[in-house]
Amino acid sequence: MFSFLKPATVTPDLSFIGVDMHSHLLPGLDDGLKNLDETVQYIGELQQLGYTKLICTPHIISDMYPNSAETILPKLDLVRNALIEKNINITIEAAAEYMVDIDMEREIKSGRPLLTFGRNLILIEMSYIAPSPNMERVIFHLRMSGLHPVIAHPERYAYYHHNFEIYERFADMGCYLQVNLLSLLGYYGKPVKIAAEKMIKNNMVDLLGTDLHHEKHLAGLKELASKKDFYKMFEGVNIRNKALLLKSVL
Ligand SMILES: [Fe+2]
Repeated sequence: MFSFLKPATVTPDLSFIGVDMHSHLLPGLDDGLKNLDETVQYIGELQQLGYTKLICTPHIISDMYPNSAETILPKLDLVRNALIEKNINITIEAAAEYMVDIDMEREIKSGRPLLTFGRNLILIEMSYIAPSPNMERVIFHLRMSGLHPVIAHPERYAYYHHNFEIYERFADMGCYLQVNLLSLLGYYGKPVKIAAEKMIKNNMVDLLGTDLHHEKHLAGLKELASKKDFYKMFEGVNIRNKALLLKSVL
């Protein structure tokens, strides 16, 4: 009887995003998906939601998930082959989500190639408990190497919720900001939702990511994509995911 109070729903269509550039879909590498069948099924569902390209970004955290090109790229091949077998036609690439810590700084300084996407983007994250003490130094070194850091889910760093100027500072240093779609659903709590909405309203967000790890994330994504209000939020907002369809653009 109170159905008129329900928010308006629509058929999910995330094709305005088109490219996802943050997920843990590659199986068995981190706290994301665990097996290949699940990966193939989720990719099919993301395609149904409107994605045409997925850039998978397993964690690289030296003491927890010591991933590298050697662990990630063979999994990418495995998934690509499974998709061909299932006739799922979607572009899949892989990069990584680097935790900014001393080991990452060492890796940058080693000169070994890093796992990047687009023309010269690299996804980096910090702990949710405290900012990385070497964050600015890492950004500086990455910029000196010709890379643009993409800061993963800035809205989830509660220690910055009352210091939005820091995001402007990161942008001034040549970083892009990537908000998690699930933040807009309230999946990570109200303060994170408010921070994400504020960033979008202030046109501070360059990219959107699913940061998909498991079933609850996929369910949340579908729920968000069914809300009419979600699409309204992006009217007049310049989200750049689609530029990643062409490697040379972003
Ligand atoms: Fe992630």
